[in-house]
Amino acid sequence: MSALSLANRVAVVTGAGGGLGRAYALELARGGAVVVVNDTGGSVDGTAGSTTPAQAVVDEIEAAGGRAVASTDSVATVEGGEAIVATAVETFGRIDVVVNNAGILRDKSFAKLDWDDFRAVHDVHLRGAAYVSRPAFRHMQEQGYGRLVFIASNAGTFGNFGQAAYGSAKTGVIGLSNVLAIEGARAGVLSNVVCPIARTRMTEAILAGDPEDADAFGAEHVAPLVAYLSSEACHETHMVFSAGAGHFARVTTGLTSGWGGSGDKPATVEDIALHIEQILDPSDVAHPLSAADELQLLGERREALRTHGG
Ligand SMILES: NC(=O)c1ccc[n+]([C@@H]2O[C@H](COP(=O)([O-])OP(=O)(O)OC[C@H]3O[C@@H](n4cnc5c(N)ncnc54)[C@H](O)[C@@H]3O)[C@@H](O)[C@H]2O)c1
Repeated sequence: MSALSLANRVAVVTGAGGGLGRAYALELARGGAVVVVNDTGGSVDGTAGSTTPAQAVVDEIEAAGGRAVASTDSVATVEGGEAIVATAVETFGRIDVVVNNAGILRDKSFAKLDWDDFRAVHDVHLRGAAYVSRPAFRHMQEQGYGRLVFIASNAGTFGNFGQAAYGSAKTGVIGLSNVLAIEGARAGVLSNVVCPIARTRMTEAILAGDPEDADAFGAEHVAPLVAYLSSEACHETHMVFSAGAGHFARVTTGLTSGWGGSGDKPATVEDIALHIEQILDPSDVAHPLSAADELQLLGERREALRTHGG
């Protein structure tokens, strides 16, 4: 049993019938958590599939001596989100962890994208994460304990050609997590984001890789971070991580020290052009952890400007 205190914690992993979600579910179960393995089945683009892989992962967990239950509700509706959380509470009596991992892909360049695809991608990744997390969050607030993990993507944090719908939905998830980290703090509900890099059916064309290095991008190289963030051992919240091929890093949103005018009158367009390099200069970057933090920093900078000049 893991020393990270996942024992008897009840975890929901969405989209856990294959790929990364399966690896997260197995790792959580190995750590002693009981797991709701949620997956609708279906193809990468989310169109209907006739079989569901969720039960197969439940069977795997049970064969290894763990406890799990399958859920085939879709995250993409309010009712689906509620049903997924109800499965956890009705089967195991509580809910401690949600890993929002379910995802689909419908890549197209922005000029060519179809609004139905855009909506479908947002429904699963962004709305779906909220639909599952909201009923769970209420239970977590009430019990004074919870761990939320959102799966985002470097396609949003750093951008990627052809992924306007996907990248914007994934970055929306980061905003959702940041707010829930603030709203959940008092009740012991922690919220973090992981941007994985792994070879799955979703990425096999991009990460085909060197056959000699076939396992380097396996989903199992991401799962330990997700399990850590799901555990009692984790005290971090409001963070975004990158994880892939055994490498783990923090992804930050920073505020450069920037440039400010006198504040007596609005800066001119010429002022901006003149100081654009200073505005962009990344050599001194702060990492506010709320909008209020940023306002306080702004106040301090204005005060410094008044005292010492620009
Ligand atoms: N593989 C990568 O390198 C990578 C990179 C960044 C982000 N991600 C994200 O990681 C997550 C897992 O992706 P993956 O690479 O394992 O691909 P995957 O296609 O194997 O996994 C996605 C799973 O989500 C399920 N799913 C889709 N719609 C659902 C819905 N409405 N309700 C419930 N389940 C649903 C699918 O059936 C599938 O099993 C996704 O959110 C993906 O966007 C993956």
